[in-house]
Amino acid sequence: MIRPRYNNLLDTIGNTPLAKINFQTPAQVFAKLEYLNPGGSVKDRSSLYMIEHAEKTGLLKPGGTIVEASSGNQGVACAMIGALKGYRVIITVSEKISQEKLQTIQAYGAEVVMCPSTSFIEDPRSYHSQAVAIARSIENSFMPNQYFNILNAQAHYTLLAPEIWEQTEGKVTHYFAAAGTGGTVSGVGRYLKERNPNVKIIALDSSNSWRSTNGNPQPYKIEGIGIDFETPVLAKDIIDEIIPVTDADGLGMLPKMARQYGLLLGPSSGAAAWALEHYARTRLTKDDCAVVIFSDSGRAYLTKGFYAQPQDHHLTATSYKEKQTSI
Ligand SMILES: Cc1ncc(COP(=O)(O)O)c(C=O)c1O
Repeated sequence: MIRPRYNNLLDTIGNTPLAKINFQTPAQVFAKLEYLNPGGSVKDRSSLYMIEHAEKTGLLKPGGTIVEASSGNQGVACAMIGALKGYRVIITVSEKISQEKLQTIQAYGAEVVMCPSTSFIEDPRSYHSQAVAIARSIENSFMPNQYFNILNAQAHYTLLAPEIWEQTEGKVTHYFAAAGTGGTVSGVGRYLKERNPNVKIIALDSSNSWRSTNGNPQPYKIEGIGIDFETPVLAKDIIDEIIPVTDADGLGMLPKMARQYGLLLGPSSGAAAWALEHYARTRLTKDDCAVVIFSDSGRAYLTKGFYAQPQDHHLTATSYKEKQTSI
């Protein structure tokens, strides 16, 4: 009788590797490779936690429907989990979503409702407002509601944070995470602060977000990141610093991370890497140990053209031969 290490796919969520990155800094810098979760992002953890909490408390019953608003990854995770557990899944997304994330949600059999990209979440056309309306209209439906449900941060406090604490043997001094809902930075941040109040918790925001612009948000390209409204999920009391990152800086980091470090990252991880690299240059010492979350992979954004360089056009077999003979 074979005793599998994992009884089902959902058991493979979490326990992601922590890999050292050789940034130019006297400190030790580690990346938590959350894109190695089975759904491809950190959101597998929060989705599973919220869905299983709803099952336990009777909010989600067999035959029910999961409705969620997502910049993409929470939608992918809900779709994957819903497929395995046998729920109907409806995901509202904004027009900013990459084709890869959109099609991945659909590949798991979930229904997608496309909504315009709005500056304010309260806008009735926003993907959040639409998800609330859809959930209200369907009997036996459950909305994890990642933007307002503190269980989102609780998931990362319970599942992700202890892994980081153990993998760094309690030596982590700085923690960097991109903030969208704020769940990843807040849940882990609270746990680390409880273990060591001196740990610095650093959130990365879009420089065009509602928070960064004092209430006058402008469009931005980086998906998943951006503090765009007041939410109880974002634990301001334990965040030491919020660093705004421009699209140009965050996206500009992506080819470098792939070509220099072999890390094909999603845009929010590019923003986190940019902020960490700059912070590390002047503010980290040899006694420091920084951990950064790499939330998802660049494979989910390849068609956005953030990675290929102008010189990267490919050859055909014929033009390759011609090139060789002309050398
Ligand atoms: C790629 C990516 N990075 C970062 C985040 C932000 O994570 P959180 O919502 O926990 O703040 C998200 C959230 O959807 C995401 O999809």
